[in-house]
Amino acid sequence: MPERPLTPRHDPNARGFASDNYAGIHPEVLAAIGTANGGHQVSYGEDVYTEHLTDVFRAHFGDRAQVFPVFNGTGANVVGLQAMTDRWESVICAETAHINVDECGAPEKVAGLKLLTVAAPDGKLTPELVDAHAWGWGDQHRAQPRVVSFAESTELGSVYTRDEIAALVAHAHDHGMLAHLDGSRLANAAAALDVPLRALSTDVGVDVLSFGGTKSGLMFGEAVVVLNPEAVRGVAYLRKAAMQLASKMRFVSVQFEALLAGDLWLRNARHANAMATLLAERVGGLDGVTLSRMPQANAVFAVLPADVTERMQKRFRFYTWNESIGEVRWMTAFDTTEADVEAFATALAEELGAR
Ligand SMILES: Cc1ncc(COP(=O)(O)O)c(C=O)c1O
Repeated sequence: MPERPLTPRHDPNARGFASDNYAGIHPEVLAAIGTANGGHQVSYGEDVYTEHLTDVFRAHFGDRAQVFPVFNGTGANVVGLQAMTDRWESVICAETAHINVDECGAPEKVAGLKLLTVAAPDGKLTPELVDAHAWGWGDQHRAQPRVVSFAESTELGSVYTRDEIAALVAHAHDHGMLAHLDGSRLANAAAALDVPLRALSTDVGVDVLSFGGTKSGLMFGEAVVVLNPEAVRGVAYLRKAAMQLASKMRFVSVQFEALLAGDLWLRNARHANAMATLLAERVGGLDGVTLSRMPQANAVFAVLPADVTERMQKRFRFYTWNESIGEVRWMTAFDTTEADVEAFATALAEELGAR
């Protein structure tokens, strides 16, 4: 007798604006997992899906790209940064960088790296901001600056232009440093700028990329993508030592194939971005709402009266970003619908009207 099928414990139609990682699995990705299922395959990445993945990534990132699938973005950042540095070296990043504020100190604890942070009001590093820390080489008292790490799009939803990245990377290289890109949302940035993924990475000299999958519709999975093999050492060993080596790797790899072999990455990113633009349009004109950062990819930031935020958060999931100024963050995902946006805007108008 077959077991009784499980029934959902959640409402499969409920969507909020808390994070793009609240979304489920894109149906094409879920189907791909099924395709890779059945039979036995060699574990730890020696399966046919992972072997094929190099070609999939090289089609986007060029012939030198090497891909190392991992479980999550924190792991990708830790493994990538560790592979680029020695124990006495440091990483320059924005104060707001995910590696600084949202990884529980993993780059410091696991990779043993000192982070040198700079205040970047819009989340973006510039060569001038990097210069605050780009000194002291040869001084045995100072953790030696080795990597400039930046995110595209940033934690504040901003998007570097191709030229801004090129200038930042060139500046790092001019100082003998390397460039690391946290591309958890690189797809959203590329879609927003209407450029290929490589235009913001390989073509502007980025050395190592953490490429995001989860926020683009994967169940889970990110990848360390080495764009400059001379910039790293021991990635495979570091991945294992950082507990990021999946034994059943075929199921991570096939998800990336589903995302990148066709245009799913672009469709998903364009859609999420369009929903953020729509949301900003729908709520930006409401009395009591101040858009604090105009959406450039799939994030909308706004300042609201505290009581309205409190009531809205009982109706929809989203995070308060900066409590001191009443700033909230709304993220859209590949599965956000226009109806979701309308429902949210209507509810917000109601709560503002009830004051
Ligand atoms: C910029 C950035 N980097 C990396 C990550 C990935 O983190 P993780 O998969 O470890 O949650 C996130 C997730 O929110 C992110 O926003």
